[in-house]
Amino acid sequence: MLSYRHAYHAGNHGDILKHSVLALLLEALRQKDAPFCYVETHAGVGRYDLRAPEAQKTDEWRNGISRLWHEPTVPEQAAPYLAAARELNPDGKLHYYPGSPRIARHFLREHDRMVLCELHSSDLPLLKQEFAGDHQVAVHHQDGYQGLKAFLPPKEKRGLVLIDPSYEVKAEFDQVTTALGHAYARWPTGMYALWYPILNRPSVERLQRRLRESGMRKILLAELCIEPDDGPAGMHGSGMVLINPPWQLDTQLKTLLPWLHQCLDSAGRGRWNVEWLVRE
Ligand SMILES: C[S@@+](CC[C@H](N)C(=O)[O-])C[C@H]1O[C@@H](n2cnc3c(N)ncnc32)[C@H](O)[C@@H]1O
Repeated sequence: MLSYRHAYHAGNHGDILKHSVLALLLEALRQKDAPFCYVETHAGVGRYDLRAPEAQKTDEWRNGISRLWHEPTVPEQAAPYLAAARELNPDGKLHYYPGSPRIARHFLREHDRMVLCELHSSDLPLLKQEFAGDHQVAVHHQDGYQGLKAFLPPKEKRGLVLIDPSYEVKAEFDQVTTALGHAYARWPTGMYALWYPILNRPSVERLQRRLRESGMRKILLAELCIEPDDGPAGMHGSGMVLINPPWQLDTQLKTLLPWLHQCLDSAGRGRWNVEWLVRE
């Protein structure tokens, strides 16, 4: 039984990290003419109305995207992400927040495509409606982990896989690393991005240890926390695991993350971190 609904959390600090890094990965894929394929295992609905009761109930976006929206100067590393968000809000007012499929769609050229999996029976119709009539987007009512087996490797032999589960059960931390390992075995040259919440140190350390011991190479880690590790219970921050990242992404992240951190955590309680978990 799935109970997590991303509509309550859209545009929060976790989304900011995830989607701004995602935008840099997609921007890098566009640098070559050859077509690419974007595969997402846990797609959500694609677009979130920040005036809806769900978003208003938690107001998480007010300490997230809202803080970035009015920043007068933006580093070039954040510009692709904010351009994708502004596309949904052409009058300049922040009403809609783009989920990862909408961010990805912003970067697709006419010969690229994307494949989305979503299991929730309420979110699926919204996702289908979001991309109705769009021949470059395939939406599947499918378990995302099964989707990795079904859709990898893509015929384009270039592209990106985003794994962004809801972590409703603790076991999902292990499930994602196992799934990532299987996907990598099917398609070792693909680019992979995995998002994870930082709620407590032991689960994150276990995730990182499993990745280090997985045999996969070129694993970059980016973390952004708005609360200290020993802060109040809840999500202190989040991280992205990036496998086969584009050249110089680490350098780009070392400019992007401090800027995000300064916007989202003006009191400076949290931290940011970019490091190689496993090098080439
Ligand atoms: C964190 S949300 C995704 C948010 C989205 N990636 C974004 O950034 O806009 C996780 C989504 O995964 C869906 N979900 C949960 N378990 C799933 C599974 N096994 N396969 C596919 N989707 C699943 C949930 O219904 C939820 O919509």
